[in-house]
Amino acid sequence: MISKNIIKFYKSWFDNYVNQFVQQYPDMSENIEIKADHSKKVSKEIVALTQSLNLNNEEVLLAEVIGLFHDIGRFRQYAKYQTFSDSKSQNHAELGVEVLKENNILKDLSKENQEIIYNSILNHSTAKIIPDKNEKVIFFSKLIRDADKLDIWRLITEYYMVKEQKENKALELELPDKDEISDNVLESIINKQVVMKESMKTLNDFKLLQIAWLFDLNFDYSIKRLHEKKYLDKIFNTLPENHKVNQIKEIVNEYFRNHIETFTY
Ligand SMILES: [Fe+2]
Repeated sequence: MISKNIIKFYKSWFDNYVNQFVQQYPDMSENIEIKADHSKKVSKEIVALTQSLNLNNEEVLLAEVIGLFHDIGRFRQYAKYQTFSDSKSQNHAELGVEVLKENNILKDLSKENQEIIYNSILNHSTAKIIPDKNEKVIFFSKLIRDADKLDIWRLITEYYMVKEQKENKALELELPDKDEISDNVLESIINKQVVMKESMKTLNDFKLLQIAWLFDLNFDYSIKRLHEKKYLDKIFNTLPENHKVNQIKEIVNEYFRNHIETFTY
């Protein structure tokens, strides 16, 4: 059983773990805290998402744990490599599972719940969910993928608002901020497919990759929440006005029209 007390313990372990990094690497504390805040907000987002579904208490708590720990590898990644780019460093999801196992954090949970947590973390940042015989792994992976995207949209749209005054290259994966949009990125969006990380060459490509996450949402709740929060409009506002971007806007609006009954424009 996962109890409220275990969640309490996990939250305080998480805070202590993050604090060690803040103290050891004060110059990096800003980005460490951004990721800590993101983790906590994802655990709230995932609980809100479960409330739109019919889950029991145990399942809701399990989702909350996955939300809190999904990015636990980010802290070691950033301290060691000073980047959030997995391709320039190490897969942060694998690193996260390593951290949890090293610290034996999940020892009080059933083997099955441990497996669900580890595999959902591994699945949270892959282009596609890795096939698994355990349907629960697939289900919780879907939950964390949606909740994570929703909070990254929150985080980056807040960032794009202040970018001019307070640039943070780590949040841009150190990509060059040029007007270009790569053709294969555009092509993926036209086909309503997610954009592969490897095809990104510019910051605009990264913004489009984040827009294309729309096509990868698993739950109606997430599509509605994304639409309500207008995150994609906020990203579009930071892109150049040209034919390619207009074409993408049309595709995005059409997708919302087809997926949200109350869609109005
Ligand atoms: Fe992540």
